[in-house]
Amino acid sequence: MAILKRTHMCGDLRTEHIGQTVSLNGWVAKRRNLGGLIFCDVRDKTGITQVVFNDQIPQELFERADRLRSEYVVGVRGKVAERESKNPDLPTGDIEILAEELVIYSEAETPPIYIKDDDNVDDNLRLKYRYLDLRKKKMQDNLTFRARLTGIARNYFAEQGFTEVETPMLIKSTPEGARDYLVPSRVNPGRFYALPQSPQTFKQLLMVGGTDRYFQIVKCFRDEDLRADRQPEFTQIDLEMSFVEVDDVIEVQEGFLKRVFRELKGIELQTPFPRMTWQEAMDRYGSDKPDTRFGFELQDITGLVRDCDFKVFTDAIEKGGSVRGICVSGAATAYTRKKIDKLTEAIKSYGAKGMVWMKVNAEGVASSVNKFFTPEQLKEIADSMGAKEDDLILIVSDSNKVVWDALGFLRRHIAGELGLLDDEQYNFLWVVDFPLFEYDEKEDRWSAMHHPFTSPKEEDAQLLKTDPHACKANAYDIVLNGVELGGGSIRIHDKEMQEDMFKALNMGEEEINEKFGFLVEAFRYGTPPHGGLAYGLDRLVMLLTGEKSIREVIAFPKNQAAQCMVSEAPGLVDETQLEELGIRLREE
Ligand code: AMO
Repeated sequence: MAILKRTHMCGDLRTEHIGQTVSLNGWVAKRRNLGGLIFCDVRDKTGITQVVFNDQIPQELFERADRLRSEYVVGVRGKVAERESKNPDLPTGDIEILAEELVIYSEAETPPIYIKDDDNVDDNLRLKYRYLDLRKKKMQDNLTFRARLTGIARNYFAEQGFTEVETPMLIKSTPEGARDYLVPSRVNPGRFYALPQSPQTFKQLLMVGGTDRYFQIVKCFRDEDLRADRQPEFTQIDLEMSFVEVDDVIEVQEGFLKRVFRELKGIELQTPFPRMTWQEAMDRYGSDKPDTRFGFELQDITGLVRDCDFKVFTDAIEKGGSVRGICVSGAATAYTRKKIDKLTEAIKSYGAKGMVWMKVNAEGVASSVNKFFTPEQLKEIADSMGAKEDDLILIVSDSNKVVWDALGFLRRHIAGELGLLDDEQYNFLWVVDFPLFEYDEKEDRWSAMHHPFTSPKEEDAQLLKTDPHACKANAYDIVLNGVELGGGSIRIHDKEMQEDMFKALNMGEEEINEKFGFLVEAFRYGTPPHGGLAYGLDRLVMLLTGEKSIREVIAFPKNQAAQCMVSEAPGLVDETQLEELGIRLREE
């Protein structure tokens, strides 16, 4: 079968092409037969063009056009003509093609999903027929956008002296803290590779190896619970630099993000981006990735209610926790009891046992705790939070972590409900000075907040020996509109400091050797001071395309149960394969 040599893409034709003979290849998006006239919309990844088969064409061509159905793959040649009834919704809506030739490359059965951007199809069905879903213009635009972004990244980092280096996929467990995906080794029975959660250890080894500036666009794998911005396999723009301090890394990143926004969005970002310490982010926003596009900042009223008669507050304070709230201006009427009950239910997943509300009205302050406070006390609280008439106050008391998490969720959730999240506003923020360690209540132990190679801030270096858990880290996260886009740190390059770090994590010599012995050994042979960062590429593309989930910017993402709906992975394997690997499945 002869392939019609394409001269144009479907979405590119405009009035300036009128009179030209063009050839298009694509899919039949729609076909209507109005008796002596057949209209056919042909689609490719750039858009749609209307093709007309009229009664002036040979009978045989007309009959072939009459056979066309949705999603047939065709080649069409014809003359571009001005369209009589224009379609203002289509970029090509002023023209049509008067067909002179038609090749049907392949027929198609009725597709199980509509190929329409705003289809409302069930997500799992979209993922099962992803190859059909991908025919939608929005999906193709997202893939193209992503490719342009990775192109810019490659150019930018190459210009800045970074070398693109691939690191291995079959490795030993990495230190990012999620669960590993394991791969059994046939030639080493009983042993397993881990798929990298990130190239962290290898990029540090590249610095020891003299690469100086490393960069990679790399798949990472983490077996963790899925969310809108989390996938079990995702992509990082990963980099590492030698002989740098925090400001050097940040400067290169701001240059990169400036370039991305200029070239892809036509937006000139103002740099340097604001910086905020982790402590301030938690105190003001209840989050280490604050969305600063709106207010409703957290306010600490612990001092004010320390001696009140409400035991829920005083108990929390006695246990070392706090009482904090947010004031949502003008929301008292809109937030009915039913809506507030829903919010109370929602924060339970953050460990909060309840929530106090107050509403300021003309008579005073109505609240869920009227029994425990005098009207004057309630007014004092409302005043201290700057509340005015028709403002809604929401208060949570518990351990600091629960209070931060619950209120951090509430302020963003409510801002969403009130329509305050402007997709076209881009608020970048560096969150710096993270704690070096965090306490894991479930496991009852201290762990590294970033990873165990993150260095303490210079002024805290001595603390690492005496009071390690009070150390702040030389770590930084880049946050955009409440999403953690990337994170990194200046690493430890001193052998003794690394040993102190492992000690603070309660890791014995054997465990250190088993897990990171190779890195510790490498550091013995001359290690440059170094640091770096990794972006979540999927998240960056999601925010720039205005999508709500990274699934929309990944060609073949996993579903909620970490399955590939197209290929039906993970699948069963042959008994012989398992035998070769020395693996026997447990009978349930
Ligand atoms: P971190 O673990 O913070 O740092 O990861 C860097 C960035 O990767 C993105 N990300 C994810 N995106 C989608 N799905 C996931 N499951 C997922 N997990 C993480 C986030 C995050 O900010 N090696 C260090 C970096 C360094 O220190 O240089 C690291 O991986 O956007």
